Amino acid sequence: MKIVESPHEAYAHADHWRREGLSIGLVPTMGALHAGHFSLVRRSTQECDVTAASIFVNPTQFSPEEDLSRYPRTLEDDLAGLRELGCGLVFVPQPQQVYPEGFSTYVSPPATAKPLEGRFRPDHFRGVTTVVIKLFQILPASIAYFGQKDFQQLAVIKKMVEDLNVPIRVVSCATIREEDGLALSSRNRYLSAEERERALCLSRALNQVHSLVSQGLSQVAQLEHEMHRILKPATDSIDYATIVDRETLDPMVEIDRPAVALIAAHVGKTRLIDNRLIGE
Ligand code: PAJ
Repeated sequence: MKIVESPHEAYAHADHWRREGLSIGLVPTMGALHAGHFSLVRRSTQECDVTAASIFVNPTQFSPEEDLSRYPRTLEDDLAGLRELGCGLVFVPQPQQVYPEGFSTYVSPPATAKPLEGRFRPDHFRGVTTVVIKLFQILPASIAYFGQKDFQQLAVIKKMVEDLNVPIRVVSCATIREEDGLALSSRNRYLSAEERERALCLSRALNQVHSLVSQGLSQVAQLEHEMHRILKPATDSIDYATIVDRETLDPMVEIDRPAVALIAAHVGKTRLIDNRLIGE
């Protein structure tokens, strides 16, 4: 497994593979890898000739008051896990290699970046789209793998790829959960035992909405009320618990087309997000 810091060197490897006619799968990450990340890598190694992963805690997607310096870093374990899965290259740049002195070009994200996370983390998706386009240039893959866990991020990246004619296929991978339903996240390690228990209310609220919809309930206001009823006593604050159109992320009144229920809530000092597809 090649471990590469320099963008030029990473590109040279990818370019060489492409000239040999090999398909490249790309798995962008911020490290602190868990079974969710590894499921993306596994899917890539199954579908592509070579898999490249990136590990980069991207400063432009964190706001000044967010947890950039506190973000977990477990590089040795990450590399061991990637090696074991047969990853061919890991791109691990330093911040100044991605954002050298004088860097000033950003990708303005699509309209799907505005609601939900966009309301609570205003410049977050501008940082995501900018770093993801850069990773796509540095490692020109055939397919890039992203998790449904970050549903809005996936929607934003898919739209960016379409709008900007980026020659890469974006594949969505199912959310990997603990046995009790908690969606795996690098941030789960911040939870105390008591908070870990309370964090289960996110998946419980999503499951409840899913089962109410299967029983025929279709009024979004009622379904959202039900999510808040479950979340309120177990969380410290709720940023949103809502149901939107699965394509446009626009608000809905009734579940009359494919939708997605999304939650962002704080448990202790940790901000958790989760989602579930509704009304397939
Ligand atoms: P990060 O949070 O490290 O996530 C990397 C990828 O793993 C994302 O596509 C995310 O959706 C996926 N992932 C995380 N938890 C998952 C789970 N429980 N099941 C399945 N997939 C999961 O998302 C980012 O990094 C960054 O924003 C990035 C795209 C790398 C840009 O900096």
